Amino acid sequence: MLINNWYVAALSSEVTADKPFGTRMLGCDFVLYRDSAGNAVCLANTCCHRGGALCNGSVASGNVACPYHGWEFAADGRCVKIPAMGEEAVIPKRVRIDSYPTQEKYGWVWAFLGDLPEEERPPIPNLLPEFDDPEHWRLIPYRAEAQVNWQRFEENSLDTAHINFVHPTFGTRRAPRVTVVPITPTTYGGKVQRTRPAPKVEQKTGEMARMLNPERGFTSVSLEFSVVGICHRIQPVFQEGMSIITFSVKVPIDPFHTRTFGLQARNFLLDPAQDEERLAGIMKAVGEDTAVVEALRPSLPPQSATEEFLTETDGMEFQFRSKVREWAQKGWEIDVEQMLAEQSRRVMVIPSPARRADPANWVHKTVPLRVAGKEA
Ligand code: FES
Ligand SMILES: [Fe+2]
Repeated sequence: MLINNWYVAALSSEVTADKPFGTRMLGCDFVLYRDSAGNAVCLANTCCHRGGALCNGSVASGNVACPYHGWEFAADGRCVKIPAMGEEAVIPKRVRIDSYPTQEKYGWVWAFLGDLPEEERPPIPNLLPEFDDPEHWRLIPYRAEAQVNWQRFEENSLDTAHINFVHPTFGTRRAPRVTVVPITPTTYGGKVQRTRPAPKVEQKTGEMARMLNPERGFTSVSLEFSVVGICHRIQPVFQEGMSIITFSVKVPIDPFHTRTFGLQARNFLLDPAQDEERLAGIMKAVGEDTAVVEALRPSLPPQSATEEFLTETDGMEFQFRSKVREWAQKGWEIDVEQMLAEQSRRVMVIPSPARRADPANWVHKTVPLRVAGKEA
C-alpha cells in the first residue's frame, strides 16, 4: 500500500457539517466532515486522549468532538477543547491528530494520504473530462467492496486477455488471441489502444442489443491508468456514436480488502430510465472479476517476478507494476507485515504534511514504511 497518493475517501454527498463520516483506507481509520466554510476535512480517526473513534462523535462549530470525553479537534487537527479541564485549560501542542489535504472532483472527496507539501503533490488525474458534459454523456455512479488486494484487483482491470474468459457478455472465447500493441507511458501511468473482435449481438441483452449493428466486426478499446489515485479509464467504441467510458478508482481498505468507486458514462440511450439496465451490467462484470481475483494465490502480489510467469500479453500489468515500484523506491510503501504485527497494540497513522513540517510532539506513531528497494 502506498502513501503520498490521492485516494477517494467518500462521496461528496456523504461528507456533511452535521455528522462525522468514518472510513478505513490503507489499514488506518479516518473521519471526514465539513467545516463552517463547507470545506471537506479529513482527520485521523483516533482521538489522542484514550483512543476514542471520532467518527462516532459529533460535529460542532466546525470541529469534531470525540464521543468518549468530548475533546474537540479543529480542521487542522489541533485539539481546541478539553471539557473536563474547563475553559481556561492550556492545551499542549502534542494534543493533536493528523489532518490530510482534500479536494473534490467527480462528486467524490479525495484525500491526500501522505506528508508531501502542496507543491510536491501530484495532481488528481483528469481522466474523465466527460463528467462536465452532461448534455452528451449520461453518468451513473457505482461502488463496490471486495475481499481482494488492491494491486491484484487493478491488474485485473488492466488485463485484456481475461475479458474473453471472465466476461461472457463482452468477451468472446472464439477469438481469445490478444494483439500485442505498444504501450504509451505517461508521467504516472500508461495507455494503450487496440481493436478486438466484436462480441456477437446474441451475447448482449436489452436495449443495447437492439442498437448494435450485427455486421460490425471490431470494437475499438482505449485504456489508460494512473498510479495517482490507482485509477483507470476504459473506453470501448462499439460503433459510430455508441461508446461507454468506465472510470474507476481502487481504494485499499487494508492489504486484503478493496473499495471501488466508479462512474460509467455513455453517449447513447441517455434517458435515465436506461440506468438500471446499465448498472446491472456493471455490477455483473464487477462480480465476475471479484470472483476470479478473490481466489488468486497468494492474495497479495508475489514480491519476486520469478514466482509468476508473465507473458508479452501482460504488458499493461508490467507497466502498472513499474509505476507502483517507482512509489516504493521513493520509500512510500507501507511495510504491511510489520503493520499487521503491531496494529492491535498501537495506533498507526499515515504521516500528514504538518508532521513533516514539525516532526516532534505527536501522540500516535506513523505506519512503518518499507526501506526503498528492499523485498519483503
Ligand atoms: S478518548 Fe477522546 S476524549 Fe477521551
Ligand atoms: Fe474484468
